[in-house]
Amino acid sequence: MGAAAFAALAGDRAGLPGDPALLLIRKGDPILVSFAAASGDPEAYGDDVAVFDLLRRGRREDLAFGFGVHRCLGAPLARIEAGVALAGLFDRFPGLTLAAPADGIEPVESFIVNGYGSLPVLRAQQ
Ligand code: HEM
Repeated sequence: MGAAAFAALAGDRAGLPGDPALLLIRKGDPILVSFAAASGDPEAYGDDVAVFDLLRRGRREDLAFGFGVHRCLGAPLARIEAGVALAGLFDRFPGLTLAAPADGIEPVESFIVNGYGSLPVLRAQQ
């Protein structure tokens, strides 16, 4: 998806919380949404929000699939796909582990999305 998909022009004047001089969006202003910042507010999600925790409880209100009328139509399918794919991966390769220290894996260089360019793994010895 190209960056244009994330960009829009403001249709209305809007104020954001904080310093009004800095955070006023005027009609026609270009807006670039940072999906990387979604669900990353420690005030809303707790101080450990940056920790990747698949088993975390109480995150049903996260913004991974957006919010409101344009919330992702494919969210239920994406959840099923992830469940099938990850279960299949770990069934096929039990004992899969990282091949590098977790804090040594380079994130993709982007201020729009989070992710890794590659994820080196080791299969368990058979
Ligand atoms: C992990 C996988 C996925 C993630 C993280 C994701 C995330 C998102 C997000 C954040 C939005 C909202 C964009 C916005 O507010 O402008 C969105 C919209 C949308 N997604 Fe997904 N998506 C995923 C998979 C899918 C799949 C599998 C489909 C279809 C088969 C799909 C179809 C759509 C559609 C049609 C919209 C537009 C909804 C609208 O504008 O009313 N997505 N998605």
